[in-house]
Formats: sequence, C-alpha cells, structure tokens
Amino acid sequence: MADDLSHILSADLDDADPVIEGTLRPRTLDEYIGQREVKANLSVLLAAARGRGEAADHVLLYGPPGLGKTTLATIIARELGVNVKYASGPAIERAGDLAAILTSLEERDVLFIDEIHRLNRAVEEILYPAMEDYALDVMIGKGPSARSLRLTLKPITVVGATTRAGRISSPLRDRFGATYRLDFYTEPELTEIVQRSARILDVDIDAGAAIAIARRGRGTPRIVNRLLKRVRDHAEVHGDGRVTETAAREAMRLLEIDDEGLDSTDRKLLAAIIQKFGSGPVGVAALAAVLSEEIETIEDVYEPFLLRLGFLDRTPQGRIATEAARNHLAGLGFEIPPPRRAEPDMPSLWTDDPGVGDR
Ligand SMILES: Nc1ncnc2c1ncn2[C@@H]1O[C@H](COP(=O)(O)OP(=O)(O)O)[C@@H](O)[C@H]1O
Ligand SMILES: [Mg+2]
Repeated sequence: MADDLSHILSADLDDADPVIEGTLRPRTLDEYIGQREVKANLSVLLAAARGRGEAADHVLLYGPPGLGKTTLATIIARELGVNVKYASGPAIERAGDLAAILTSLEERDVLFIDEIHRLNRAVEEILYPAMEDYALDVMIGKGPSARSLRLTLKPITVVGATTRAGRISSPLRDRFGATYRLDFYTEPELTEIVQRSARILDVDIDAGAAIAIARRGRGTPRIVNRLLKRVRDHAEVHGDGRVTETAAREAMRLLEIDDEGLDSTDRKLLAAIIQKFGSGPVGVAALAAVLSEEIETIEDVYEPFLLRLGFLDRTPQGRIATEAARNHLAGLGFEIPPPRRAEPDMPSLWTDDPGVGDR
C-alpha cells in the first residue's frame, strides 16, 4: 500500500491498469483532448498521406510519460486505416528481431517504437535504411566472403516515442519527417479529460471535484485518470459513490497529494535539495543517491513537472530549489534553512537535454 501511494503520481506504465487505460484511450484525433498544435499539424500530415495513398512520413513524439504518445500512435494508424504494431526500444534486442518485425508489416502499416532512445546500435542500423529507403540490409556469410544483400520492404510509417528527443542519436532523429513535442496539459484540458473518463467509467462526479482532480494531476492525463479511480474508490467506500469536491479533496489528502499535485517523492526531492544541499546547486547523481531513485526516473518523471511549476531550476552547476519551492514546503511545515547562495538572476537555460555538466 505504501508503495502504491508513493507511486500514484509517477506516470510510467509499470503499474498502469492496461484494461482501464485501454477503455479511456481516445481513438480519434477528435476525441484527443488538448495538444492543439500537434493535432493540427498531424491532421495535415495524415490527410496528405491519405490523399496520395502513400505511407505517412515517419513521426517522432516526445514528452514526459503519460501525456499521450502511445495514444497518438494508435490514433495515427486508425486515422490512416492501417494496422499498428507495438514494439519498444529495450525489447528489440537483436537486429534480427527488428528485421522480423519489419518484414511482417503490410503496406502503409504503422510501426510504433516506444522508448526509441533505448534501441541498441546494431538494431538502429537496421532501422536507418528501413526508414529511408524501405530497405533491409542483410549480411550473408562471415569473414572475407561476407556480403550484404538489400531486400525491399513495403512502405511503412515509423512512429517513435521518447521522453526526450535529446537522447536520440542525430542520424536517427534526422530520419523522422515530423517531430512533435507533447506538452503538459492545462487545467481546463485536464478537467475535460476527467469528465470524459468519468462518463466512460460511469462515475457520478461534480464540476468542483473534476477541477480539484485536474489541479492535482501534474498536467498529465494518465495521472488524472488514476486519481479519478482512487477518488471513486474512496467515494464508494466512505460515501454513496458520488464524487463531490469534498470527497475528492479528502481522498487526495489521504493519498498525501498536496494542493500543487506534489506527492511525497516530489516533496522529498525538494526537501533534500533545500535541507541537505542549501537549496543547491546539486548534481542529479547526488540527489538520486540521497533519494535511492534512478537518475533517469528523477529526470524524466519528477523533474519536468517541478520545473514547470517553477519549483526547480536546472543550471550548469546542478539543480536549484527556488524560492517558490521553499515557500511551498514552508507552508507544509517543513524546516527551511536559508539558501547557500543567492538565487541567480539569469533565467535557467532550459534545454531539452538537461544535466549536461552536472553528473
Ligand atoms: N489527449 C488526451 N485526451 C484524453 N485522454 C488522454 C490523452 N492523452 C492521454 N490520455 C489518457 O492518458 C493515458 C496515458 O496516455 P499514453 O498515450 O499511454 O501516454 P504515454 O505513451 O505518453 O506515456 C491514456 O490511456 C489515455 O486514457
Ligand atoms: Mg506510452
């Protein structure tokens, strides 16, 4: 249970309920809420491909977990009227595995590769000609008599997803015709998502409750859906099942989610920077050690939203907890020692590939 609590806000798929995720997943671009610019660009790309009767350009989707990358890949295939095959970077171990997948696809099908930044070199090299020329280069024989044979593949669309575009090798990145960055959702968008999900799950929810959940959802559809389910459970056990604003707030208080949507790990992370490192700067490796978390989890799951809230800053010297973070934690009763150094008056250089020079 404790583990469940601390991870309710982490947006990774690990503990996601696949059945519920499936039922809540929008199936068309129209049903897909928010990300207006991405949708507008994507619908042009899809209409053009449909018009020409060709495979659509390869698409790279990037952004923090739970924002709708897998959902969009599914929608792309559906809007093109083709099948989609799901694969993930770490699961494709050998070049032969990818070759087998590629040859199994029908013309214009979509190949979705999740966590594409984790493809190994040998596999990536199979992908280059497949994306560029719809070709598969196979090596025949060994040693001096080895030669390469080029097979033709059917035209397909590769949709790649990653939490960070900066992690992808540049030759791979260059092979995508379109790259879309998914951003955190606004509160009204999340409220709409909560209401849509409540309708699908047949949950009786009032407007105030939907907003209260949206506000604590870290800008992330997967998280608001998960909060909605937990709040519904609470309302069923402690009330008549109707999700009122009071019930929602009470349930989220029990889940230790504060008014900004931070969970205990977020607070621990900020508290560590503030209390143990004089508000920073501190390298992410040191933070990971103190929190017993993976560096990648801190960077991909926790930091993006703290940055967005303005609670965290990334500088070349390391992470800094801001004044806003100190005020937030002070309001929750944390002890706040004075920062070791004055706040920098320069805005931080928020690049897509953070952490350069601070490991
Ligand atoms: N734009 C959206 N509108 C409504 N629901 C969404 C949207 N994007 C994502 N979701 C919901 O959030 C869940 C997580 O989305 P997913 O595509 O799996 O995220 P990612 O692949 O980026 O981690 C989905 O099951 C879906 O129910
Ligand atoms: Mg996904």
